[in-house]
Amino acid sequence: MKPTTNRRVLIVDDNHAIHDDFRKILCAGKNNSGAMDQAAAALFDEPQNATTSHDFKIDSAMQGREGLERVRQALQEGEPYAMAFIDVRMPPGWDGVETIARIWEVYPDLQVVMCTAYSDYSWDEMIAKIGQSDRLVILKKPFDNVEVLQLANALIAKWHLLQQTRSHVSELEARVRERTKEIETAHAKLQTEIDERNKMEIQLRHAQKMESIGQLAAGIAHEINTPTQYIGDNTRFVQDAFGDITRLVTEYDKLFSAAEKGAVTPELIGAVKSAAAAADMAYLSVEIPKAIQQSLDGVSRVTHIVRAMKEFSHPGTTEKTAVDLAKAIQSTVTVASNEWKYVADVVTEFDPALPPVSCLPGEFNQVVLNLIVNASHAIADVVGDGGNGKGTIIVSTRHDGDWAEVRIRDTGTGIPEHARAKVFDPFFTTKGVGKGTGQGLAIAHNVVVEKHGGTIAFETETGKGTTFIIRLPLKAASTERKAA
Ligand SMILES: Nc1ncnc2c1ncn2[C@@H]1O[C@H](COP(=O)(O)OP(=O)(O)OP(=O)(O)O)[C@@H](O)[C@H]1O
Ligand SMILES: [Mg+2]
Repeated sequence: MKPTTNRRVLIVDDNHAIHDDFRKILCAGKNNSGAMDQAAAALFDEPQNATTSHDFKIDSAMQGREGLERVRQALQEGEPYAMAFIDVRMPPGWDGVETIARIWEVYPDLQVVMCTAYSDYSWDEMIAKIGQSDRLVILKKPFDNVEVLQLANALIAKWHLLQQTRSHVSELEARVRERTKEIETAHAKLQTEIDERNKMEIQLRHAQKMESIGQLAAGIAHEINTPTQYIGDNTRFVQDAFGDITRLVTEYDKLFSAAEKGAVTPELIGAVKSAAAAADMAYLSVEIPKAIQQSLDGVSRVTHIVRAMKEFSHPGTTEKTAVDLAKAIQSTVTVASNEWKYVADVVTEFDPALPPVSCLPGEFNQVVLNLIVNASHAIADVVGDGGNGKGTIIVSTRHDGDWAEVRIRDTGTGIPEHARAKVFDPFFTTKGVGKGTGQGLAIAHNVVVEKHGGTIAFETETGKGTTFIIRLPLKAASTERKAA
């Protein structure tokens, strides 16, 4: 049913004569629309014909219950009434107010004119019974024909507007639903992409860690190889010396036994002399303690490196712990020594007043390592292989209020102007294939800013060098201090 064509009117009244009157008035409009339209035009300020009062489809009910049935049936047929004239007094059945209340339960859109000759109900009583409504108009008997006709036209027009609004609203709702669905789909897609990115980032970090561990392993192998070699050489030397000493002691034993028996012979004395000459005790008594001391030094060097490696890697530490930054930096410097020692000296300046910092030790070490490796590369670009003097890397810590500050300063090339805005971007590198992948600073930024709520920045001067400044919050520690 097209809503604009619906002009169904229901009349509910127990008086046959009233039904006839309504039909006359409404149908009179059909035959005599000119006069009515003029009246309507005057009333509503509308052009004539806009309120053409013909073509009402009128149905009658003699009682409220019958009226309700008709409303129900019309709804089932898909042709609801647009408006109804309902009498107030309709003995013996429901009165008008009750009829309206019941009809609205079934079809709340129905526009109603309540027709009354008496003041059976006050307006307030009516509202109390059926609720406040803009679908209800009261018409006092006796009727004015023009009023009836115009009420019918106006309320039918109102019913149409209501239907139009409904369909607009449901159209809008459908559009909103569609948009919401699109947004949800886009959101889900975005979430998937974010998850993908996070996964990729973890993989990248893992790859970078593996790469730097591989790189470090070569350096560490070299670091450990040197002391192990001289520990080996010294031990072999002590082993040989021990053979010589044993031979000499054996000759001394023989001489001693002969002396006890008073049977010392010149041969025995000669054998002792030549064994003593072979062993060279004067030399051995200086060299053996030296060899042992060197070996002990070598062992402690290896122990130092192994301990640094252990401290550097922090396997399995995925929670923040209170970290002594100086110790952590020292072990990272040791582990990375093969990266810097040919091109630079590393100087550390640790603030003894810096309290432990709550952080992820493995990740913090990775950041320091990345910065030291970068510094070494930048210095290597200045000093070449270090044959004509090395550069310097100064690693310092400082307690600054609620912050722990770490500075890594180098005497390298400085960051070129065009690269400064991009150094923290993932995969930005100015290094050749095999030397850099552009992940070091992106990871450092992620670790410092996202994971520790800190900041990372740099100061740089072309030709002079660069300082990276990491600041980590000490908040938790300072609250503890305050509480104490
Ligand atoms: N201390 C520094 N001095 C000069 N330039 C630097 C310094 N640190 C970083 N850079 C510049 O920033 C770029 C990005 O550094 P980043 O550590 O992210 O990547 P990379 O060192 O090139 O590669 P990767 O660290 O993945 O091996 C470097 O290629 C370099 O141009
Ligand atoms: Mg790097």
